[in-house]
Amino acid sequence: MSYTVVHDAGEVVTGPADGDETLETVTDAAVVIEDGTVSEVGPSEEITAAYPPENAEAAVDADGNCVLPGFVDSHTHALFAGDRSDEFEAKLSGESYQDILAEGGGILRTVRNVREATDAELAEGLRARLDVMLEHGTTTAEVKSGYGLDTETELRMLSVIDRVDEGHPVDLVPTFMGAHAVPEDTTAEAYTESVVTEQLPAVADQGIAQFCDVFCEADVFSVEQSRRILDAGREHGLTPKIHADEFERLGGSGLAAELGAASADHLLQSTPDDAARLADSGVVPVFLPGTAFGLDGEYPALEPFRERGTLPAVATDFNPNCYAPTLGFAATLACVGIGMTPAEAVRSITERGAAAIDRTDGSGTVRPGAPGDVVVLDAPSYRHLPYKYDVNLVETVVKNGAVVV
Ligand code: NIG
Ligand code: FE
Repeated sequence: MSYTVVHDAGEVVTGPADGDETLETVTDAAVVIEDGTVSEVGPSEEITAAYPPENAEAAVDADGNCVLPGFVDSHTHALFAGDRSDEFEAKLSGESYQDILAEGGGILRTVRNVREATDAELAEGLRARLDVMLEHGTTTAEVKSGYGLDTETELRMLSVIDRVDEGHPVDLVPTFMGAHAVPEDTTAEAYTESVVTEQLPAVADQGIAQFCDVFCEADVFSVEQSRRILDAGREHGLTPKIHADEFERLGGSGLAAELGAASADHLLQSTPDDAARLADSGVVPVFLPGTAFGLDGEYPALEPFRERGTLPAVATDFNPNCYAPTLGFAATLACVGIGMTPAEAVRSITERGAAAIDRTDGSGTVRPGAPGDVVVLDAPSYRHLPYKYDVNLVETVVKNGAVVV
């Protein structure tokens, strides 16, 4: 019998709780992982009697500290190339994100850098960023294409994501986002047509992407264009996701509800009615507080979702405009900027993150049958994760039962 045991935890966060509590925790506990899957969670004394650490394939002494589910980052643009640090300075002196994009900077500049980069350079950059994410507790991450904006480069990005996924402990979830911006030499309407008739069929043939995402925003893709792209994506087997209501309330969240998208992300300008429609249609709202922090510090509204009993997921949106790769920091911003409790913030980066990428295998929980992905903090309680925000509290990371950090 081969197993991994994480023992002598002061507290194990197992997942969402029934009733009034947000999180279920078990004290003085241990976790057993067999064949990459959690098989037991229970009192440490009993578990270590049945599964002695000295006979384990891998044993982790949590030494009274807190064990959490591996973090699930449901929204990243972690595959990119180039340097946009000067845009940080331009924004500090008053230029807006949209102005920079309209001048051919922002996403369009990263597109030029990605088209010029080799596959090996792209893969190396992604791996290095995933290393940092893993060291900070992320065990599953969605990664979008969308810095190619032509069939060849979009396919190249998806194949780099696929190849890096095979050799890296972080489990990657690929999203096709050909509709991330309108290339400089065309119009939104003509480009929408090429996404639908050229890019999507090629992406479907390639068979890597799971989701299709669109930047539904003023001066980018209209609601009508977004609907066309997401409908076509669905016909090709890709589940819709939407960048919705970030700068203007164009109607992206309404479209997400209409289509039954997996998630609607950003939601800075969404109204309480929008929130109600999303919650009622089962779309997972995804808040990206790192981006809000770096733009003008305006955060999405939590209360309308709370009233409907829907807890949003929180993700990093890691990209050259939001150089914030860790979910621990996102959890802090979720508390300080958005008003989540620490328990809600921890749930938002674990079980809710998994919901936003349609994971139904127990990802984001530590319960029998769930993937054997756990994080040991150098702290006695999950409450320390958002509280101690300028340190990396993650001491050990276990992915599918293997100790990887
Ligand atoms: O989610 N808003 C559009 N896309 C990204 C930003 C990508 C970039 O600026 O490179 C986002 O914030
Ligand atoms: Fe994004």
